[in-house]
Amino acid sequence: MHIAITPTPEDASKLAAKIIIPQVKSGFRLGVATGSTPEGLYAELRAAHAQGQFSLEECTAWALDEYVGIAPDHPERYRNVLRRELVGSEKTGLKDENLHTPDGTAADPHQAARDYEAEIAPGVDLQILGIGADGHIGFNEPTGSLANPTNVVTLTAQTIADNARFFDNDEANVPKQAVTQGLSTIMKSGQAVLLAFGSQKADAVAATVEGAVSAFWPASILQYHLNAIIIADEAAASKLQLTDYYRQTWQAEYPDLPLSY
Ligand code: PGA
Repeated sequence: MHIAITPTPEDASKLAAKIIIPQVKSGFRLGVATGSTPEGLYAELRAAHAQGQFSLEECTAWALDEYVGIAPDHPERYRNVLRRELVGSEKTGLKDENLHTPDGTAADPHQAARDYEAEIAPGVDLQILGIGADGHIGFNEPTGSLANPTNVVTLTAQTIADNARFFDNDEANVPKQAVTQGLSTIMKSGQAVLLAFGSQKADAVAATVEGAVSAFWPASILQYHLNAIIIADEAAASKLQLTDYYRQTWQAEYPDLPLSY
């Protein structure tokens, strides 16, 4: 794992954009996350597109997950969230038909999960990730299989409470299940770039980076990923023990990628 500790979330978003933009070429398969964490990164990608430095026009984007049973026109349906963030020539150039999301409206979500797994094989080139306070990536909640392909998950009470802010602050409105890329799907990505902001993520970041690999902290599977970068702001990194070492190694290994902008 490579650990980048940035002063602020803004620095982290800029750093992630600097990592991603030079890699994107025609045919690139970009795995995209939702939630509030990647919003700053997507703003950076839109700005780079506006300046003619970046385009997803000839690329495909692959969502991590989608709520089960959410109405097709619901603003929080992840397909709609990602459309607002990325699709169109005024955003990143991504074409709607090149945005892939699990079908949360399918009568059989388990079949939708199998279909998505077949479609996404052999894995994306680069997967953008957030992390839940409980250590989930995608919607892979604690104690699911570390070997899962895309699958149907039941959200934990904490995830439902955390996501209520997107549903009029009413937990009753939050869907209870989702189709998510499994941990094995995420592990097939060529590179994983995980962003974590705020002290509410500090336990999850510490368990992911310095804990044992465990289904109880699903993101800890990334310790087995050959090219995983964890970008945490100071608050999210506050429970890490080897911060001096991470700063030293980042500077030595990525001299062209500053931590502060
Ligand atoms: P957040 O969610 O970006 O809204 O904090 C992250 C996640 O649950 O993966």
